[in-house]
Amino acid sequence: MHKLVYFFLLSVCAYEIHYNSNLAENIMLALVWIILLSSTLCKCLDNGLAKTPPMGWLSWERFRCNTDCVNDPDNCISEQLFQTMTDIVVADGYASVGYEYINIDDCWLEKHRSHDGKLVADRKRFPNGIKALSDYIHSRGLKFGIYEDYGNYTCAGYPGIIGYEEKDALQFADWNVDYVKLDGCYALPYDMDHGYSTFGRLLNSTGKSMVYSCSWPVYQIYAGIQPNYSAIQTHCNLWRNYDDIQDSWASVENIIDYYGNNQDLIAPNAGPGHWNDPDMLIIGNFGLSYEQAKTQFAIWSILAAPLLMSVDLRTIRPQFKHILQNRKIIAVDQDPLGIQGRRIYKHKGIEIWSRPIGPLYQNFYSYAIAFVNRRTDGTPSDISVTLKELGLINFSGYRVEDLYENVDYGVLYPNTKIKVKVNPSGVVMLKGEVQYPVDL
Ligand code: GLA
Repeated sequence: MHKLVYFFLLSVCAYEIHYNSNLAENIMLALVWIILLSSTLCKCLDNGLAKTPPMGWLSWERFRCNTDCVNDPDNCISEQLFQTMTDIVVADGYASVGYEYINIDDCWLEKHRSHDGKLVADRKRFPNGIKALSDYIHSRGLKFGIYEDYGNYTCAGYPGIIGYEEKDALQFADWNVDYVKLDGCYALPYDMDHGYSTFGRLLNSTGKSMVYSCSWPVYQIYAGIQPNYSAIQTHCNLWRNYDDIQDSWASVENIIDYYGNNQDLIAPNAGPGHWNDPDMLIIGNFGLSYEQAKTQFAIWSILAAPLLMSVDLRTIRPQFKHILQNRKIIAVDQDPLGIQGRRIYKHKGIEIWSRPIGPLYQNFYSYAIAFVNRRTDGTPSDISVTLKELGLINFSGYRVEDLYENVDYGVLYPNTKIKVKVNPSGVVMLKGEVQYPVDL
C-alpha cells in the first residue's frame, strides 16, 4: 500500500481515538493504529516484486564491455544491441515462455556525470538516451533493467553511485527502470550492510517499483565477512553469492559445487521475493555442449535461480533455444512455493538434486529431480534408485515424467525403482507429481 494511504488511515484512527469515548472501541482503534504505524516504519524492501525468480536477458557474459561501435557496431554495448535483443525476445517466443526483462550491464555510461551530477549514458552509443530505450522496451511489452555500482566506480571504471544515491534512485525512476543490478566494485564491503539497504529504501521511496539485485554478499565473502543473509533477504530481491560465470563447463561446475557445498547456509534464504543468484545462463554460447547446457538449465531451475540469458539471440542454434524455452523446466524454476532445491546425493561423479514444488497433498510435496553425471568416462551412467530413497514417500504415489524427453512413466510408488541413463556431463530431469488417494 502506498505510504500516503497509510498516513491517511493513521490520521483517521488518531482522530477517532481522540473523539471517541467508548473504551473497548478505543483499544481496538489503538491496536489498528499500532499495526499501521509499524507498516509505515518497515525498513525493508517490500516492493511486492520477483515473487518468482526474474527471467530475462542480460548483456554482460556474452557482450562484456565492448564499446567499439566503430569497428564492431553489431556487438558493442549500444541502444541498437538492446533494441535488437528486445525484438528477438518478443518475435522468437522467449517472451511467451516468461522472459521479460531486458537488462543493460556495465559500460553504458559516459565516464563523467553531467555538470549537475546526473548519470549520462554514452552519447555515441545511446544517442537517444536511456529513457528512449526504456520506452522502446516497454512498447514491446517487456521490462527494462539497468546496472550501477554501490562504490566510486562500476567494475569497468564508470561512475558509481556513492555520494549520489538519492539522485540516482530518482533518475532510475524517471527513466521508468524496472530492475536495478547494483554491483559492489570500488566499495568497502563493511559499508555494504548500510549502503545496500539504504539504496533499496531510496529506490522504494521513489514510488516506482524496481526489482533490486544486489552483489552485497559476494563482495563480503571475498573480504572474509560472513554475510547477514537475513538482512540481505529483507532488502534485496536477488543477490549474487559467488564468482562471475564464464563461458566454460568448468565455470558452471564450479558454481554448481559452490551452491551444493554451501547449501545449508544459502538455500534457506530463497523464497518468493528474494532469491540467490548463481549468475547468468550461458546456454547457446561457445563454451557448453548440448548436454552441459541442459545441465545448467536443470540445476538453475532446481536452485530457483533467476533465468537471465546472456547469449546472442541472433545466432543461437535451435537446440539451445529449445532448452531455454523448455516450459516444463521453466515451470520448475518458477514454482510459486519458491523453495530452493538441494543436492541430496554426491558420490563418484554422480549427483542427485531435488526441489520440492507444488502441487502438495497434505504434507507431501511434488518434486523436481535432476540426476547429473559429472564423470568423463565417455559412456552414459545408469542410476537406479527407489522413489523412497529420493524422499518421495507418499503412499498414493507420484506421476513421474521426464522434463526433457517427454517420457511419461505413469504413477509410481515409494518402493518403485527407477533407472535413468545419464550422459557424461549431462542430466536427466524428472518431475514427480504427488497423487491423491483415489477415494478422495
Ligand atoms: C562484476 C559483476 C559482473 C558484471 C561485471 C561488469 O564482475 O559480477 O556480473 O556486472 O562486474 O563490470
